Amino acid sequence: MTRHFLRDDDLSQDEQSAILDIADQMKADRWGAKPLAGPQSVAVIFDKSSTRTRVSFHVGISDLGGSPLIISTANSQLGGKETPSDTARVLERMVSAIVWRTYGQAGLEEMAAGTTVPVVNALSDDFHPCQLLADLLTIREHRGTLAGQTVAFIGDGASNMAQSYLLAGATAGMHVRVAAPAEFSPSAQVVTDAEHRAAETGGSVLVVTDPVAAVAGADVVVTDTWVSMGKESEKQSRLDTFAGYRVDDALMAHAADDAVFMHCLPADRGYEVTAEVIDGPRSIIWDEAENRLHAQKALLAWLLAANGANGANAANGANGANAATTAATA
Ligand code: CP
Ligand code: NVA
Repeated sequence: MTRHFLRDDDLSQDEQSAILDIADQMKADRWGAKPLAGPQSVAVIFDKSSTRTRVSFHVGISDLGGSPLIISTANSQLGGKETPSDTARVLERMVSAIVWRTYGQAGLEEMAAGTTVPVVNALSDDFHPCQLLADLLTIREHRGTLAGQTVAFIGDGASNMAQSYLLAGATAGMHVRVAAPAEFSPSAQVVTDAEHRAAETGGSVLVVTDPVAAVAGADVVVTDTWVSMGKESEKQSRLDTFAGYRVDDALMAHAADDAVFMHCLPADRGYEVTAEVIDGPRSIIWDEAENRLHAQKALLAWLLAANGANGANAANGANGANAATTAATA
């Protein structure tokens, strides 16, 4: 079965850790691994706007010796004119992987079910798992470890970032807290899935409405826009609802003394975070942004190896990780 990366818990704790290790290697030796030599092409499809994801996949695929094919849905047949599975059946004849930023998770699942090449979620309404690989890489660099760290996500608990923090953080053995207004709680199913994963890894999950309760003693404080892509028509009511969830110096004072601040960007200074915090000494947002490149390169190398590319007949995770490590260091 083809391995895809549609949500954070598609990876086990060991697999997630292996990908972060490959990312460390690739960051230390940026042009040393060429698993996409040929060049093999990777299709990167956007239904929504992007700066970081577009650039990091384009540059990363090039770094790996491949050829990036950046597609906007607006001028392709996908997006009402052709189904995700028909699109995938065509693309798989020519490309080695498909990366897609879209709205509904169901479209990604349909595309993945219909193709033999790996499909990567480059952000959906429900999850942003590539961002979380970069965030975990960044937290590990700054904190030395993931398991046992406490991370507090403040704001839209129903957003892709909050839900990915629950799944990816639990997978890493972290203590994940989300503070959100009750009507913007994470989906009950995602919370349950995160709780099950946390029970396996020694992590924990806590969803509250009080930002101070979430931030108290936290090692990492995270927020994101209050108005995710696709929610623009709700902007004014969201600004009102989330007004008490701004990350400012007063809220950061409740975190651990050496806590760091993260934001996937783009940011609306003065809304979900003050300029003092995001541009202050605890902010590690630029490392976080750079790590999109290294984390996604590692993910692509790992997926190609796990799916038997490069002569590695490795359909399971452990072998895939070994093959990817070989690919990463070749
Ligand atoms: N963080 C992130 O995914 O940014 P872009 O929307 O610019 O890709
Ligand atoms: N939650 C944001 C993330 C942007 C990278 C959105 O979906 O718009």
